[in-house]
Amino acid sequence: MPGIKLLNVVGARPQIIKASAISRAIRNHYQNKITEVIIHTGQHYDKEMSDIFFDELEIHKPHFNLGVGSASHGKQTSMMLAGLEDILNKERPDCVILYGDTNSTLAGAIAASKLHFPIVHIEAGLRSFNKKMPEEINRIVSDHCSTLLFAPTNAAFKNLMAEGFRPENSPPYTIDNPKIYLTGDIMYDNSLFFASLADNKKRKLLEQLSVLRDNFVLVTIHRDSNTDDLERLQIILSSLRTLSGQYGIVMVMPFHPRTINTLKSKMPEFYKEILSSEYLRFLPPVSFLEMTMLEKNCKLIITDSGGVQKESHFFRKPCLVLRKETEWIELVQNGTAKLVDADPELIAQEFGNLFNNGTTRDFPSFYGDGKAAEFILKEIMMMFEKV
Ligand code: UD1
Ligand code: UDP
Repeated sequence: MPGIKLLNVVGARPQIIKASAISRAIRNHYQNKITEVIIHTGQHYDKEMSDIFFDELEIHKPHFNLGVGSASHGKQTSMMLAGLEDILNKERPDCVILYGDTNSTLAGAIAASKLHFPIVHIEAGLRSFNKKMPEEINRIVSDHCSTLLFAPTNAAFKNLMAEGFRPENSPPYTIDNPKIYLTGDIMYDNSLFFASLADNKKRKLLEQLSVLRDNFVLVTIHRDSNTDDLERLQIILSSLRTLSGQYGIVMVMPFHPRTINTLKSKMPEFYKEILSSEYLRFLPPVSFLEMTMLEKNCKLIITDSGGVQKESHFFRKPCLVLRKETEWIELVQNGTAKLVDADPELIAQEFGNLFNNGTTRDFPSFYGDGKAAEFILKEIMMMFEKV
């Protein structure tokens, strides 16, 4: 019997990383049963935001690249939509896999559902309950266009039920009779798979940065709420500069180009000033293996990234979250992640607590067993009755 054709839509850095878990599980278990097609929307395009992950994580090069680049939400999404429609019509996949909550996810959801291709949404059900966050709209629309929805956490699964999705639905599954699953997180699959390799291959980066294991803080900032609001960005970076000096600890900051662009173009004087801070080390984005090594070896993590919050948990590191709310609420409920917003007092207080006392809390397994990708592929095959 011929195999099935899965079309993956990726575009932003974390989606390329997530797709590697699916690619690996296809290679290991469904080599002759699944044909994988990868469409890159081109949302991220700098080498260190895109190509590096295909090379390092051994993912098939994209079969198509729409090359949309950066633009306003409407322009960017509409260019993706037009490009995706053409390719979907030509490729006619059995189903379309979407990851996460970016504009590439949204465009994939609209294009595929209007053409009646079933959608598999990986990382379904996450909600921040803040619709001013662009990702929140993308999440809601994508979930409601999907046929198979894979929720990574209990909270995400419950959110789907609260929106009317019914776990008891039985096959055949369609967009009007969707199926929801609690699967665990495919990024946990990746972190487990790459952790030792990352540590072995990338440890020399610590020397290059002149930092010791467990004796530096890892920081990422890229959310629009922190980079488009110059006051927030300045407060956060000034607080970190003060804390790094006060505690004599290096902060390693591989920053998204969005953040560096804002600093260079809109706050050049401030940027110049903090670039010369004794303990702050600004870096271009690093590869996933480098990032994994840094996460594994740091003392604590400060971030506004969804993915990095979770990875702090995978590597049992306390985390300060530079946001008012998070979709990964289990981390905050567990007390190992603290929401500090861009509030200098809160940042200083929680940083001091974690720096001096660490965390005595446990890091329970909220994110599955590291085999989420295999589970997802098995369910997809079942939908097409290929197992
Ligand atoms: C996007 C996602 C966000 C995700 C993040 C992962 C949306 C709405 N947002 O945010 O959910 O957390 O990706 O990293 O989809 N830029 C470059 N080079 C690149 C890519 C971007 O310089 O390769 C700069 C451009 O100035 C661009 C800005 O970053 O305008 C923002 O890029 P964009 O893809 O629109 O949003 P992200 O902030 O990356
Ligand atoms: N990441 C990376 N290099 C970096 C910063 C992040 O490889 O310089 C990885 C990180 O380990 C995680 C993912 O990118 O797996 C998170 O992406 P990002 O923070 O851009 O987006 P989000 O998860 O918030 O959507």
